[in-house]
Amino acid sequence: MKVLVVGNGGREHAIAKKLLESTRIKQVFCVPGNGGTATTKGCQNLSLNIDDFQGIERFVMVNNIGLVIVGPELPLSLGIADYFQQRKMMIFGPTKAGAQIESSKSWAKELMLEAGIPTPKAAVFTDAEAAKAYVLEQGTPIVIKADGLASGKGVTVATTVKMAHSAINTIFRGEFGTDNIRVVVEEFLTGQEVSILALTDGITVEPLLPAQDHKAIGEGDKGANTGGMGAYAPAPIVTPELMERIQEEILEPTLAALQKRKIDYRGVLYAGLMITPEGEPKVLEFNCRFGDPETQAVLSLLETPLEDLVLACCQQRLGEYSIRWKSGASVCVVLASGGYPGSYQKGKAITGIEEAEAKGAEVFHAGTQLKLQQLVSDGGRVLGVTAAGETLEQAISKAYAAVDCIQFEGVYCRRDIGRRALGDKN
Ligand code: AMP
Ligand code: GLY
Repeated sequence: MKVLVVGNGGREHAIAKKLLESTRIKQVFCVPGNGGTATTKGCQNLSLNIDDFQGIERFVMVNNIGLVIVGPELPLSLGIADYFQQRKMMIFGPTKAGAQIESSKSWAKELMLEAGIPTPKAAVFTDAEAAKAYVLEQGTPIVIKADGLASGKGVTVATTVKMAHSAINTIFRGEFGTDNIRVVVEEFLTGQEVSILALTDGITVEPLLPAQDHKAIGEGDKGANTGGMGAYAPAPIVTPELMERIQEEILEPTLAALQKRKIDYRGVLYAGLMITPEGEPKVLEFNCRFGDPETQAVLSLLETPLEDLVLACCQQRLGEYSIRWKSGASVCVVLASGGYPGSYQKGKAITGIEEAEAKGAEVFHAGTQLKLQQLVSDGGRVLGVTAAGETLEQAISKAYAAVDCIQFEGVYCRRDIGRRALGDKN
């Protein structure tokens, strides 16, 4: 079978490589892909836009592609799954209606409240002054969220009223879109965050291994928020008992609430949770897709063929599977361009990837490009160096041994990915 993957991040490179582990997958096409998918054997990039549904459809038809997997949220929120489903083509990812769980935080909040899903208290405003008055009433710290898709930039954890008011002003100035502006003002929670990526076919929902992302740029979780500086799986904070609660109190009721809204959701339901100091799992956000960089860590431990699970979701047969995992742990360390998440330079020559892979790691590309046969940096997050080991400690040392082989001007990474799970304070 031939598969087409939509997206150009580390997540999509990891999905493509995982698919190609199976002898049944003959070729993977990536739209638009990156320097990694361009150089992976069996993989080919197509220079089409991810919102060019007609162009993608034409390519799928002409080349007899059996399955489309969508990585990012944007095409899902624009209705790519609806478009392909209407044409009776196999596509993995929820419809536009389902994708609202990520594309509208107020919609997701309403669904959670209705279904009794544990989530921090929040209020939704369409008016800046009312939102500011609510902040004054509630006090700080408080969390201000733009309602729509904001590429991870729409959330401010405000420690002062001034900060909260300024975040509200930014949102109402139209920084994250000018249509139907709404702001969600949410109670601030402390605890540890975990990412639960679950597969669903609209009937059953099956969590993958729990993972933990590292969103801050600096070690010890300090500094600006990023798209994710590294991840590891499984996250030991999610004990089997806690996973059972997450299944019963969050995943199943969410699916039931989607069904109640007549939404046929087939794809990834990603619950971004805070595990409070009392051990309660609460939903901070839902995403309608695989997480990045959690996917890189999680898929490297997956034993059941990925295409079996994805097809089972599309064909509503997920209940037939019990997902098998390799033992041990996996960690993905992100190498970023100096300056990220602020301004940074692109086009820096990258060396040492082969040496890094010779240390037993897999290097997934995110912001890279192949330019005149030279691999160069092309984004903020450049590579995801991923290694598995029998223990998390082994996985971490293997990943950093590989990280140390890779060079490009200004390269930056956090040196503490996964350390929290070993009991290090951060
Ligand atoms: P979100 O896009 O909703 O996941 O928010 C981005 C990040 O903001 C999360 O990963 C958390 O680190 C932080 N955050 C969001 N909501 C809350 C909250 N209610 N309490 C504390 N931190 C939060
Ligand atoms: N790792 C966070 C996300 O994918 O949204």
